[in-house]
Amino acid sequence: MGTRMIGTGSSLPKAVVTNDDLSKIMDTSDEWISSRTGIRERHLAKEETTASMSTEAARRAMENAGVTAQEIDLIIVGTVSADHVTPACACEVQAAIGAVDAVAFDINAACSGFMFALNIAHAYLQTGFYKTALIIGAETLSKLMDWSDRSTCVLFGDGAGAAIVRADDRNRLLAFDQGSDGIKGSVLACPNRSNNNPLVETSKELSYVHMDGQEVYKFAVTTVPVSLQRTIQAAGLTVEDIDYFVLHQANIRILQAVAKRLKVSEDKFPISLDHCGNISAASVPILLDEMNRQGLLKSGMKIALAGFGGGLTWASAVLEWDA
Ligand code: ACO
Repeated sequence: MGTRMIGTGSSLPKAVVTNDDLSKIMDTSDEWISSRTGIRERHLAKEETTASMSTEAARRAMENAGVTAQEIDLIIVGTVSADHVTPACACEVQAAIGAVDAVAFDINAACSGFMFALNIAHAYLQTGFYKTALIIGAETLSKLMDWSDRSTCVLFGDGAGAAIVRADDRNRLLAFDQGSDGIKGSVLACPNRSNNNPLVETSKELSYVHMDGQEVYKFAVTTVPVSLQRTIQAAGLTVEDIDYFVLHQANIRILQAVAKRLKVSEDKFPISLDHCGNISAASVPILLDEMNRQGLLKSGMKIALAGFGGGLTWASAVLEWDA
């Protein structure tokens, strides 16, 4: 049994915050942000939550796939910014859409979260254990930012993307590669937990996302091309056979460097970071959904996907589009 992606959906918060808006509340500029990152604006949540955006993205994906809530038997949300420790965001989505027969849980693989969720779903579908999975990448990163740290907070945004994948006789998830390197975890971290245990003396101060931008850049531009090459080869293809490279939207310079290392035209690297910023686990499914709704994805196209980020973690896949 194989995996076929049959629908996508996404949801962004209503509020749009431009680089110029940020320059009114911190010492930054549109020139600095856009020239180094490619980001011009991002959506930030006000009333929206990780669960509400996940639910909206899920409903759109279900509509796009022509699937009812009763047919879904697995829900996985990749997120580092669920609204609660428990219940899981996936369980909140289950309740909201009425997927009464689904098993639901979250996973934390940071910016690789959607890709890890895709591979977990694929493993379940292959065994025949489940037939129809709803996979989501969703983040409200604005609540994890130190808004006095201009080097990091300007990069991120909020949103959710979803896809429906279904067991099928012919496999369209042609190959997959995943990896982790916990030794380098501190280059992109968010401790963000206070500890009230009376036996432990810890700071009650919350801490926020902190990043060594240059180390993250080095990690991304060395690991991602190798992972993509390995996956494309495992799929029995060459880089020339790939129609689009749908990568985690961290930074335009990372995308350009990956394109250069693979010797592929940048035109094959669609972007959403200009209007979304970096939305961690949500960035790959949001971009995929934008492309799907723009009619860019045609039956038989080969799409390479890649996520990379905190953990450190990374994953890539080659998908044959047949929605
Ligand atoms: N506005 C204006 N000036 C700024 C800002 C800002 N928002 N942020 C930092 N600066 C200043 C710094 O204070 C510093 O000033 P100084 O020279 O007077 O000390 C100067 O700009 C350079 O700062 P650096 O941090 O060295 O900037 P760098 O050129 O490395 O660019 C960036 C930072 C864009 C984050 C870069 O390191 C990068 O591209 N990293 C890749 C990592 C990445 O994209 N991470 C995203 C999240 S991780 C992920 O999703 C995998």
